[in-house]
Amino acid sequence: MENPMSANDLSRRQFIQTAAATACACALCGALPALADEKVPTTPLDAGKLADYASDGVYDQFAKSRHILIVRHENRIYAPTAVCTHKHCVVRAKDQIIICPCHNSRYDVDGVPTRGPAKKPLIRYSIQIQDGHIIIDPTQTFDQSKWSEPRAFIAF
Ligand code: FES
Repeated sequence: MENPMSANDLSRRQFIQTAAATACACALCGALPALADEKVPTTPLDAGKLADYASDGVYDQFAKSRHILIVRHENRIYAPTAVCTHKHCVVRAKDQIIICPCHNSRYDVDGVPTRGPAKKPLIRYSIQIQDGHIIIDPTQTFDQSKWSEPRAFIAF
C-alpha cells in the first residue's frame, strides 16, 4: 500500500525543483533579450556616400559604435546587424567574410552562417540614398525572407 505522506513529500520536492528551474530559466530569458536590446541601434545612421564603398567587401567601421555592418556585393549595398545571432557578440569583417570573435561563428557576405554555433542569418536594416548619402534606418528590419524587398538594399 502506498504511503500518502511520502507521495506528498516527493510531490512537494518535485514542485520545488521545478519552480527553482523555472525561476532560473526566466531569469536567463530576461537577461538575454536585455543584452540584445542594448545592441539594437535606434537612430538613423549616415553611413557616407556610395563612393566610400568603392569595392566589394564587408565594411565594419560602424560595428562597435552602432552595431551595423555595410556590405557591398554584386552591385548592391546592404546593412546587416553586427550582432551575432548566437549570443550577441559584435562581429567583424575579415577577408570578405564576417566572423564572431566569441565562439568563432562565420557568416558569408550575405550574413548567412557558414560555421556555427550561430545558426540564424543576420537581419538587415532599412537602407536608402538621401541627398547623396547612405542612410540606414535601424527601426525597420528585414529577415532573410525579406532581403529582396526595396528598402533592404541599394542597387547601383
Ligand atoms: S556569440 Fe557569436 S559565435 Fe557565439
